[in-house]
Amino acid sequence: MDSWLRKDSKYIWHPYTQMKDCRKTPPILIEKARGIKLYDTQGNFFYDTISSWWCNVHGHNHPRIKKAIEKQLKSLDHVLFAGFTHRPAILLAEKLIAITPKGLSKVFFSDNGSTAVETALKMSFQYWQNTGRKEKKKFISLDYAYHGDTIGAMSVGGVDLFSKKFRPLFFPSFKVPAPYCYRCPVAKQRASCSIECISLLEKMLKKKNSEIAALIIEPLVLAAGGMIIYPAEYLKYASKLARKYNIHLILDEVATGFGRTGKMFACEYANIQPDLMCLAKGLTSGTLPLAVTLTTEKIYRAFYADVEKKKTFYHGHTFSGNPIACSVALASLEIFKQEKVLGRVERVVPRFHQGLERFKDLPFVGEVRALGLIGAIELVKDKKTKQPFSLQERIGQRIYLQGLKQKLILRPLGNVVYFYFPLCVKDKEITTILNGAFKVLQISFNIKRQL
Ligand SMILES: Cc1ncc(COP(=O)(O)O)c(C=O)c1O
Repeated sequence: MDSWLRKDSKYIWHPYTQMKDCRKTPPILIEKARGIKLYDTQGNFFYDTISSWWCNVHGHNHPRIKKAIEKQLKSLDHVLFAGFTHRPAILLAEKLIAITPKGLSKVFFSDNGSTAVETALKMSFQYWQNTGRKEKKKFISLDYAYHGDTIGAMSVGGVDLFSKKFRPLFFPSFKVPAPYCYRCPVAKQRASCSIECISLLEKMLKKKNSEIAALIIEPLVLAAGGMIIYPAEYLKYASKLARKYNIHLILDEVATGFGRTGKMFACEYANIQPDLMCLAKGLTSGTLPLAVTLTTEKIYRAFYADVEKKKTFYHGHTFSGNPIACSVALASLEIFKQEKVLGRVERVVPRFHQGLERFKDLPFVGEVRALGLIGAIELVKDKKTKQPFSLQERIGQRIYLQGLKQKLILRPLGNVVYFYFPLCVKDKEITTILNGAFKVLQISFNIKRQL
């Protein structure tokens, strides 16, 4: 074993990893990255088909991003963000307010997706405390939702595999079945349904709204839950219900933000206005940790008072609004404009979606779904019954290892193989990656015939 990997195994505990597996499959020592490719110390490259956990936007090592870091480092590395401020944060806040849904007018900085979510939950909770509705202290969210790994974020999550062990630590929250069209909770077909599953949310809100502070939802894609893509109409109705039942709407765009779905923000498909919105990951094009929670004037005003009124939001993180990270986020927004990134995405998306079509014919593929540069292939044991593979079968691990042999980083979420391309991906790269992934599935399931 490489001496670096020996040290890695001696000192490091990796996230989302059964460390015992590393004895057989040690991590890959990465030394550089360019565009959509990661290079290891042996000179091999791998396609980063999942944007390094869904955060890389413009490709690795983008020259404008590097320049922004170098420039900012020359003047200010970091400063505490209470009692002090700086231009990169001010400029970034102004720009984010300009591109996010109408009504969002204040920006609260933190440093990762989970903290952006915790901030939103606490803001909503304290809003109701500050305005005399102390009974509104619970949250409502979807099955299959994922909002991060801190205790609050897990409390509103719905992916048992990740969080079940910690359930005794959670605060109580309400869950409703997700609009998972392939496994419809009200037994309808998407082609002919009228989003009847929204009644499940309404039923719960009707009964419990007086106790509920907010609905938190990932717009259009339940990402970690298995890249479950749901109709924009559902989100629109959910937003209307939040208004009707006087609860906040928190949009968690941590994964879907910054062009991934084909629009800058997924919520644009539903044309809705949230009370709070969480952004992280792609905010810095996946280069440095930075997150924001945006909110409305109305929520902000509920905290704005003389200090003895005890309405202050006592929440913050050491690296809130780090100037280097803010400068990078500004550079990333500039790249969107200068390189006409969303236009380019629009041009490559049809090729991608078309390329996914042939996966449908494979015998163990239950559903193929896609939105923008996100594509998912749900694997099933039996197409008719939609029976999933069990965890013990470890098909994800099998596919991951085969993927590496084809130079692809594929990290299935349970039974869902997915692509989460950086926005710089080229037509040719998409074709190569899809051909490679097709081969991976054929080999993993021992399918000989060419389809
Ligand atoms: C929708 C969503 N929210 C929140 C998070 C948490 O972000 P982080 O991993 O930066 O804490 C994630 C992470 O995958 C996510 O997908």
